[in-house]
Amino acid sequence: MPAVRSEATSDLWWKDAVIYGVDVKAFQDSDGDGIGDFDGLAERLGYLAELGVTCLWLLPIMRSPWRDNGYDVADYFDVDRRLGTMGDLVELLRAARERGIRVITDLVVNHTSDEHPWFRAARSSRDNPYRDYYVWRDRPQPQPRGIVFPGEETSNWELDQATGQYYLHRFYRFQPDLNIENPRVRAEFQKIMGLWLELGFSGFRVDAAPFLIETAGLPGKSPDDPHAPLRHMRELLSRRRGDAILLGEANVAPDQITGYFGRYGNELHLLLNFILNQALVLSLAREDARPLAEHLRDLPTTPLTCQYANFTRSADELSLDRLTADERAEVFAAFAPEERMRLYGRGIRRRLPSMLGGDQRRLELAYSLLFSLPDTPVLLYGEEIGMGEDLDVPSRASVRTAMQWSDAPNGGFSTAERIHPAIVADGPFGYRQVNVRAQLRDPDSLLHQVGALIRTRKDCPELGFGEWRLLQTDQPGALAHQADWAGGSVAVLHNLAGTGCQVKVDLGAARVEEQLADRRERPLPDQAGPIPLEPYGWRWLRLHPPG
Ligand code: GLC
Repeated sequence: MPAVRSEATSDLWWKDAVIYGVDVKAFQDSDGDGIGDFDGLAERLGYLAELGVTCLWLLPIMRSPWRDNGYDVADYFDVDRRLGTMGDLVELLRAARERGIRVITDLVVNHTSDEHPWFRAARSSRDNPYRDYYVWRDRPQPQPRGIVFPGEETSNWELDQATGQYYLHRFYRFQPDLNIENPRVRAEFQKIMGLWLELGFSGFRVDAAPFLIETAGLPGKSPDDPHAPLRHMRELLSRRRGDAILLGEANVAPDQITGYFGRYGNELHLLLNFILNQALVLSLAREDARPLAEHLRDLPTTPLTCQYANFTRSADELSLDRLTADERAEVFAAFAPEERMRLYGRGIRRRLPSMLGGDQRRLELAYSLLFSLPDTPVLLYGEEIGMGEDLDVPSRASVRTAMQWSDAPNGGFSTAERIHPAIVADGPFGYRQVNVRAQLRDPDSLLHQVGALIRTRKDCPELGFGEWRLLQTDQPGALAHQADWAGGSVAVLHNLAGTGCQVKVDLGAARVEEQLADRRERPLPDQAGPIPLEPYGWRWLRLHPPG
């Protein structure tokens, strides 16, 4: 056993956290208006604690017209009242804290909604004091970074008729980019972060981080210190609340990744690992561990005080933009064979369970990888029960459907006649088939297995805190890795292939004790030798010193 079992209360709690991303408006409606809310989420904290979640990530909760699911903020100092009041939020934070669950939320610094009072003022005249909160040009400029939502937008510059200038928007035209170099804008964000930290949040997911540090030809940007915005955010956090974190969203090339942690580990604590996500999906599609192994081998090391955050699915499209065209075509053919399952020419708008054809063996394999791979796992609400998507709703809303609690009307999400989020009602992933209540009763359910994976992960702090390495295997379908920390060692074996195998892997002279395995695995053979793995099977092993 390791000398220290957990550091959950330390400033490094996030290294060993289990993060659960939740869209409050789609999770649980407490007052029957068809929209999920803080009180509803509070009612479900027992479920989340039981599952083993240690940190909730609330998708945007600030006041917004919800034209981009809340990533279009109209007031940074208030919650969207459809979710509840500030009082309800504080109550949720308190109740979560009592259960040992921390809470972070999305902070959208790159842009506001065009309904934000700053933008309304900025566009009222060229000499308005808020004009420089945004980025204006007399003519559209070359696209600084391509179009994020091809098919939905055609330019990054939009003409403001009244004042005759163009404003920059990397995302939708109703999301004007803030001029983050403006000291007044920086000062606003210090106050904004200050407010939510005082309320009890343990940090933020920093939305669209690459755009904050981008300098390419933009007015007012200072090319000599592009990382200043991230560093300033980190400094404020450290001063105000030393244990709070920044979890960054940055889907960037491998050689740029580590820049986001800062040279001294003084920018983002955690970075969502989009490249691992895509390598994982390619490996699952090919039933071959090598793409994943290759990625893990090439993964730039992080400063000690930083880490990656792994995920299988986010609430956006599953982007395959880091794969080659051939690899992307392969993944599309395997997991999104129909055009309507794809988005922006680069991504998949399905959830993982439907991509894997509802095959519970493959889903458990994917989540065993998620919870055992080095770094911090992030689960999207509903993944633990294997929720699917609704392809009848446009764009990314397909994967933002209501949480499926039971087979009651609206899946137990709401008693309203009409609900705000879409809900998957029919088919194999409909709420009558896939819901929490049924899976709680079924010991063989995905929910039970995900719970077991999370519990076991917590018994293996080596995975979050330790040094890890890949172990050589003799099977293309097999991935084996080992993590060591504080005198303890854990090895985890996965078979990504649909045929069983015997894996030769060198575990040294260790005495091997199985911590958890896929339910179909037979007990480990007594004698040393190859380790049997079922099709899509996996085993988590604790390695004790010999003797
Ligand atoms: C992030 C969010 C996405 C949003 C975009 C613009 O990529 O994940 O949902 O549309 O930022 O804020």
